[in-house]
Amino acid sequence: MANLIAIRGDITTLSVDAIVNAANTSLLGGGGVDGAIHRAAGPELLAACRTLHGCATGNAKATPGFRLPAKWVFHAVGPVWHGGGHHEDELLAGCYRRCLELAREHQTRSLAFPAISTGVYRFPPQRAARIAIDTVRERLEASGVELVNFVCFNQETFSLYEDLLSGPVPVPTV
Ligand code: APR
Repeated sequence: MANLIAIRGDITTLSVDAIVNAANTSLLGGGGVDGAIHRAAGPELLAACRTLHGCATGNAKATPGFRLPAKWVFHAVGPVWHGGGHHEDELLAGCYRRCLELAREHQTRSLAFPAISTGVYRFPPQRAARIAIDTVRERLEASGVELVNFVCFNQETFSLYEDLLSGPVPVPTV
């Protein structure tokens, strides 16, 4: 049974097979977790991102981790929150789904996600955490991933994830 855990800290320090970046459609860097990942990975990461020619919202693309302890970075583009009526939920779920597909393609056993879209993009944190956990639980088995870390940069996000992860696991509706 794969493990889903919430941890507090900086995603750039984790020795996992892959970390996920909360990027923008250009994939050419930014602030927040994106800026931290680019600083820690070194300039080779930007050079690799340039070859990807951007990424659509709700999708993700992979690069090596370069100077990071993580072997891979999956650059996911979350939606900007516009009130919830612009497919924000589906687009956010798409990021998590695509990252699990990339995990399978890259034989990733351990994976770490930040709280995609909940910073500059203003997605409500609790709603985002529920989508993150539900989508990962749904797709985990097919991915081959054994450990998923939800990396929380502040106490509020950490408490949200802790509560949701310790709650009842929903019965799949297939
Ligand atoms: N480790 C883990 N989480 C982090 C880190 C870090 N080093 N730095 C920030 N975070 C958290 C934030 O606290 C927030 O909960 O990551 C979450 C996502 O916040 P943002 O980085 O602002 O990402 P997002 O809301 O998806 O906005 C994406 O920001 O910088 C740009 O290029 C990026 O334009 C894109 C936009």
